[in-house]
Amino acid sequence: MIIDGKAFAAALRAEVATGVALLSRVPGLAVVLVGSDPASAVYVRSKGKACREAGMASFEHPLPAETSQADLVALVHQLNADPAVDGILVQLPLPDHIDANAIIAAIDPEKDVDGFTPENAGRLATGLEGFVPCTPLGAMMMLKATRGDLTGLEAVVIGRSNIVGKPMAALLLGESCTVTIAHSRTRNLPAVVRRADIVVAAVGRPEMVRGDWIKPGATVIDVGINRVDAAASDTGAKTKLVGDVAFAEAEAVAGAITPVPGGVGPMTIACLLKNTLTSAQRRER
Ligand code: GUN
Repeated sequence: MIIDGKAFAAALRAEVATGVALLSRVPGLAVVLVGSDPASAVYVRSKGKACREAGMASFEHPLPAETSQADLVALVHQLNADPAVDGILVQLPLPDHIDANAIIAAIDPEKDVDGFTPENAGRLATGLEGFVPCTPLGAMMMLKATRGDLTGLEAVVIGRSNIVGKPMAALLLGESCTVTIAHSRTRNLPAVVRRADIVVAAVGRPEMVRGDWIKPGATVIDVGINRVDAAASDTGAKTKLVGDVAFAEAEAVAGAITPVPGGVGPMTIACLLKNTLTSAQRRER
């Protein structure tokens, strides 16, 4: 079974649009992009478009790559104080001369719709309510819709990033899974993955997870978005997107699997809108 992320995202976006229409004012998301990384520019554009389609305002702040850390902190403080802004997203990665942790820490946790601030990361780790990072949140919604109760299942998360791996592990633990976080130093990764009823791949290495690593019937969530040469492409395109999982091999063994594109990606953006709506709803009370 292929998990249709586009369909899940469309349903969530419709739900968000309904919520937005019930508010007394238009919610706003501020998106800050420093520099001109092409992949980041694509993400930022699609976030802006999704906002407008959900009836939200999108305030875009494109800044030159040379922007100083002090100027970026000053912009974040200005957005923290702006009553029209319900959510603040600073697109990562940031240029090397900027300390990303310092920028993230400057964001008001109540507007931190990415769930990246130490306050929200700590809330997730301790089981308190807060903003949950969008990619793991979307992955978890699809997992629960596909598998129902996750209690007691073996989950293996490959990747230990603050954006995906660690929050994903915290969410799975919250659903009473037995959770393993594997990473680049893990020994005998195929053997670790073979234990898993749930595999979440978030490493950024094209097609690294092979079909013979997957336990028959397992649910596979592929977070990877890798652009590779499309040598054998029948469309004539020079590059194509692939996940961290060798899809054709894994699909033959897995019980359910997310495709790339059309899996986790669309849900990430839908969850960003959901978090922004939640922020606006909290502010209205
Ligand atoms: N870069 C890659 N993924 C993300 C994300 O979810 N949020 C932000 N702000 N930057 C990213």
